[in-house]
Amino acid sequence: MMWFNIAKAQSFMPTQGTEIAKQVDNLYGFLLVTSLIACVLVIGGMIYFVWKYRRKSSNDKTAYISHNTALEFLWSFIPLVIFLGVFGWGWYIYHQMRAMPKNALEINVLGKQWAWEVEYKNGFKTVNEVVVPINQDVKILLTSSDVIHSFFVPSFRIKQDAVPGRYTALWFKADKLGEFHLFCTEYCGTSHSGMIGKLRVVSREDFDKYLEQGQEERFLPLGEKGKKLFAVKACASCHAVDSPATMVGPSLFQKFGHEEVMDDGSKIVFDENYIRESILEPNKHIVKGFPKGVMPTFQGQLNENELSALVEYIKNLK
Ligand code: CUA
Repeated sequence: MMWFNIAKAQSFMPTQGTEIAKQVDNLYGFLLVTSLIACVLVIGGMIYFVWKYRRKSSNDKTAYISHNTALEFLWSFIPLVIFLGVFGWGWYIYHQMRAMPKNALEINVLGKQWAWEVEYKNGFKTVNEVVVPINQDVKILLTSSDVIHSFFVPSFRIKQDAVPGRYTALWFKADKLGEFHLFCTEYCGTSHSGMIGKLRVVSREDFDKYLEQGQEERFLPLGEKGKKLFAVKACASCHAVDSPATMVGPSLFQKFGHEEVMDDGSKIVFDENYIRESILEPNKHIVKGFPKGVMPTFQGQLNENELSALVEYIKNLK
């Protein structure tokens, strides 16, 4: 419709998943087109005048022009009007982005090295996946348990830092069904680039069904609970569980009952207590070939039941 809508071209920008995304793209398209026009006028004018007034003989002299009030007024006034317009336009969009709607569906998201922990109001927890109903105001309440992360959904054109020790928030209203990228866009350590999730927009009924899983979770077998915790605590960012591959930390695949060689040459049997100690005091013994101080302690973050669930899960990785 509008002449500056070139930024809408699919190849140009990510899918527009919200109304705000369309507005952001319109403003962006306007800036792009006006900048192009200004660029052509300034550079083109420069090249034209260089050519037009090139030196033709040794006593060439231009006329002495001290000023031109009308021209000077126009080239100051027109850009001023454009700049003020862009400022007002930008402010209008930003204000909509930042004014949290009342009655929004709230979802808590915790950023941590290196995953997004997502918790819904009914206690249902997932990792690296946010599911929301379509056409509903959603408020994401963010915080971090370690360093600054940033919650970024390119298709919604929204981004917000997750800061340790305080809450920040953003909101959106998705108007397209589908799956969208969720990135961490603040450099947060070794696996920052792997801190990727997805945001799924589903129908109201599918969303309610999705949340019901939260009720069933309490009856999971111990190993399944451990598997879930392993995901929620982001253990998989650093430890492989289905192959002997080395990631940031050692693989846990088929380790149970075998001996691990430590960096001081000693050997420790990979048993229940070794798993427990590695979770609570990860730097007490370091597996040979791995750096010290990389794994954070989970002391105080897991209760005995959760520890048992994790031990049960890890010892059965075959
Ligand atoms: Cu979290 Cu980058």
